Amino acid sequence: MGSSTPPVPVLSPPPSRLVIVGGQRLEGEVVIGGSKNAALAILAGALLASEGETTLTNLPRIGDIRTMVEVLGHFGVAARFSQGDTAAHLDATRLTSSEAPADLVARMRASFWALGPILARCGEAKIAQPGGCNIGARPIDLHLKGLQALGAEIETGFGYVRAHAPKEGLKGASVYLDFASVGATMNIMMAASLAHGTTVIENAAQEPDVEDLGNFLNAMGARISGHGTGVLTVQGVDSLHAADYAVISDRMEAGTYGLMAGITGGNVFLKGANAAHLRPVTLKMIEAGMQVEEREDGIRCTGPDGRPIPTRITALPHPGFPTDMQQAFTAYLATADGTSVVTDQVYESRFRYLTELGKMGVVSQVDSRTAVITGAARLTGADVDASDLRAGAALVVAGLAAQGQTRISHVEHLDRGYEALVEKLQKIGAQVWREDEHGRRQTSQRKAA
Ligand code: EPZ
Repeated sequence: MGSSTPPVPVLSPPPSRLVIVGGQRLEGEVVIGGSKNAALAILAGALLASEGETTLTNLPRIGDIRTMVEVLGHFGVAARFSQGDTAAHLDATRLTSSEAPADLVARMRASFWALGPILARCGEAKIAQPGGCNIGARPIDLHLKGLQALGAEIETGFGYVRAHAPKEGLKGASVYLDFASVGATMNIMMAASLAHGTTVIENAAQEPDVEDLGNFLNAMGARISGHGTGVLTVQGVDSLHAADYAVISDRMEAGTYGLMAGITGGNVFLKGANAAHLRPVTLKMIEAGMQVEEREDGIRCTGPDGRPIPTRITALPHPGFPTDMQQAFTAYLATADGTSVVTDQVYESRFRYLTELGKMGVVSQVDSRTAVITGAARLTGADVDASDLRAGAALVVAGLAAQGQTRISHVEHLDRGYEALVEKLQKIGAQVWREDEHGRRQTSQRKAA
């Protein structure tokens, strides 16, 4: 076992920019890291273990993981990292608080996934309400509806959600989700795992991250079935124990590097990518002119000989096309030989990044949930701003193909979801570096793995 390091408070990195000189064909191999969204949910799930030390491996080396471990520490979880931050060791035997303050939750919506586990373990919870962000209002009504169905008393006010379980504990129930919400499915599944009796969640989210959380909870002694399908059943148990678990690979990171290969006419092997998880995206890649080779140990993505073929994309809950990939895919389609249509049925306003792409020559028209993209033969580099993680990814994809230099500010958004981004890009031939706000080039801290 490598040396272990106690979690240190996540300090916000100094503002920096990503600089890309476009036009290089990307070739070689990228090692895909662990799934951010599965890992964040599984870290919350570790709160449910009342005995033993959980060891999680294949964690992505990104800021959000450190933030979530900091949140767990706040509840009294003894936590430490090892194996170069790709493993975490968590002992939740003694919880010392059932409250998560606003400043922590405001930093990362996934902190709200602690509500279900803390309520189930402590009988009460006081968690700050997550804010909306620039991709939509992102309400939490379905989370609360599910916990109320399990018998919790919920009150909101002053920016907090307060939840109390009946003195006899939570009780299994049938829950129908108006929308197949990932977070609501996760919160309810975790709370139900310690409820008395059986819970059935209908119209449950089917994302691989949800399935991975269910597998982790079962390794802890939970009795969950149907996770990864639309009907998820939980037989409550009295207690859960720690478990050792390896998180699945990140399909969004894999898809993003696949599209980077596509838009540069390159050829990249995504080592560790899960072909089944990414199929809603790879089938669209093939439709749009790319070649995709599925292998046991990963996926090879090869760009089209000519320009991408225009296509239609509709982002839906899994197994539909994932909303977290529509941004990077739209950037790929921006150089297509014709007009594409992208619709996002998951979020009401997730096309703001097209304003920034417009500075690079991307021609688009947005009407609420639908964007019409008129392909351009050439994109040009520009100074652009990453408003969030996936918008930033779209700017990187476009910058890799654009003529000249693209400088992307607020790269800290990208660092929340793409581990060792500069190093991994440099390894496959991209001309990219980080610079500080004064334009001074920064040396790489991390290895590409
Ligand atoms: C998870 O967010 C992911 N985040 C998101 O990834 C992802 O975009 C989203 O699922 C959809 O796949 C994490 O896992 C940490 P939702 P979540 O609940 O759970 C509405 C990224 O970039 N809704 O499935 O918050 C909501 O308004 C992030 O990695 C309600 O109406 O997403 C939205 O329109 C961004 N009421 C839709 O559902 C609720 O109570 C999708 O939300 C909850 C959600």
